Amino acid sequence: MADAEVVVAVPAELSDEVAAQMLVNPLTAVMLRREAEEHQAIGYDGVLVQTAAGSSVGRLVTGMCDVHGLGLINVVRSDRGAAALRKRFPDVPVVSTEHQGWAQEVRRAAVGPPVSVAFDPIGGKLTESLLDLLAPGGKLVSYGQIADEPFSVHASTLLHKSLTLQGKNIGRWLSEVSAEWRASDIAAAKLIALALTDQFEVAATYGLGELAEAVEHAVRPGKVGTVLVRPR
Ligand SMILES: NC(=O)c1ccc[n+]([C@@H]2O[C@H](COP(=O)([O-])OP(=O)(O)OC[C@H]3O[C@@H](n4cnc5c(N)ncnc54)[C@H](OP(=O)(O)O)[C@@H]3O)[C@@H](O)[C@H]2O)c1
Repeated sequence: MADAEVVVAVPAELSDEVAAQMLVNPLTAVMLRREAEEHQAIGYDGVLVQTAAGSSVGRLVTGMCDVHGLGLINVVRSDRGAAALRKRFPDVPVVSTEHQGWAQEVRRAAVGPPVSVAFDPIGGKLTESLLDLLAPGGKLVSYGQIADEPFSVHASTLLHKSLTLQGKNIGRWLSEVSAEWRASDIAAAKLIALALTDQFEVAATYGLGELAEAVEHAVRPGKVGTVLVRPR
């Protein structure tokens, strides 16, 4: 039995595969968009940058920025990943961190406007580079810890550039927002699932008896899409 308040109806048009991904990643994208739009330059001349842009969340963020006309630069860790993402979203600049000087490439891709907000699920040295890239008044939104490393920032950087550091996670969102707000964000997540169905790729589906293989696949480099587990 599930509490009726937490049950969400699946639109008839969506496959089980998309329905299985309909909440967490789209809600994360909605939560990130709200954080970005709190910055006065986003929606005007400010540019967003996101790392791990080829991830399932990253592809939804890219699709959402496209729909809402938000300037975005995607950052990935390999040339291979950059080529794949360029094919998927030909109009969105992609920069690979495989080469030194990638941060300069991001600045060039911004073509003048300030890099106002960065979305980062990686952490460590990459986050330090993002803090350098941000324009004065910029905001870093940390929503993952893939690198599992700390980052360091000198107080003078925060002071002189007036930077904001913000951590966001869906667990806190669930417990903190009002029922009305939650309903509105879930409606937005459903719209994302309906509008961006092609981005809800499945990397592979495993049975309940194959959990170890599923976990290994979920962290495999170069994987595209979400690993699902389905009772057969
Ligand atoms: N805060 C929240 O509430 C929330 C909610 C949902 C997800 N998340 C986080 O969002 C992130 C993405 O999740 P997802 O399911 O969309 O991931 P995913 O589809 O599994 O993709 C993972 C991505 O991370 C990249 N990556 C892995 N290790 C890396 C490293 N050391 N340096 C740079 N890039 C690296 C991979 O690049 P390659 O393609 O090159 O392998 C891939 O693009 C995860 O950290 C997840 O925990 C947070």
